[in-house]
Amino acid sequence: MGRPDAVVSETPATLPDLLTGLATTRAIRRLSLDPIPDDDLSTMLWHATRAPSGTNRQPVRYVVLRDDERGRAAKDVLGRGFRDGWKAKSASAGYEEGSALDPTSRKGRQRAAMEYFVEHFEQFPVVVLVCLVRYREANPYEGSSVYPACQNLLLAARALGYGGVMTGWHGPVEAELREVLGIPDGVAIHATIPLGRPLGHHGPVRRRPLDEVVFDGAWGEPAGWATDPPGTEFAGGPPPS
Ligand SMILES: Cc1cc2nc3c(=O)[nH]c(=O)nc-3n(C[C@H](O)[C@H](O)[C@H](O)COP(=O)(O)O)c2cc1C
Repeated sequence: MGRPDAVVSETPATLPDLLTGLATTRAIRRLSLDPIPDDDLSTMLWHATRAPSGTNRQPVRYVVLRDDERGRAAKDVLGRGFRDGWKAKSASAGYEEGSALDPTSRKGRQRAAMEYFVEHFEQFPVVVLVCLVRYREANPYEGSSVYPACQNLLLAARALGYGGVMTGWHGPVEAELREVLGIPDGVAIHATIPLGRPLGHHGPVRRRPLDEVVFDGAWGEPAGWATDPPGTEFAGGPPPS
């Protein structure tokens, strides 16, 4: 787990406006190990807390793991969970064969980024656990009051020249993590989001074309007015083969 290369940072003049940010905020797994100044972290969290929630109940809480003893202990627990998560995924999603073995292919690059990510997890400067204080029984919809905040956090990070990735690999180690951090019953951990300066570049985000996902008035009706801007790049879903 050595230190990685220099950060590809953006100067304030090249930081994005809102729509550019939306179009270019990627999942960043190659994060610098440099610390994040308190002011920047505070700004990111403030913008995360501007996200909407049902009835403006604001049930989201953020446990920020940094470089103190408990932060390090929690990152250690998570690091194990992440390596196990990636091991399972790399086998099941074909990251150990075919084009994934070619480092110049898209899948090979994804694999390299993921390997960097799990190998350096404990060294990332900040990991945010996004939690929900439950006010009713756990239900399939409760995440809808959490995920807008997660995306706001990532967008605010992007706006300040940082990056991160939404993850759920805390699941297998959750009991141990709760113990280390004193997270009470009745609080759900919905996302684990490491943050730092990106070592690569953000955008462009690649998604399905609008004519596959936007319907006009009824299911399946084409919406000819919904068009991808020139230069849009596309991707059609789970991992390229
Ligand atoms: C609900 C959700 C769960 C995710 N879980 C994980 C995860 O456990 N591990 C991970 O590495 N990425 C995770 N991601 C990140 C996605 O893989 C990523 O956002 C997606 O592939 C698009 O990547 P891109 O924005 O770079 O195009 C998750 C994203 C979302 C929205």
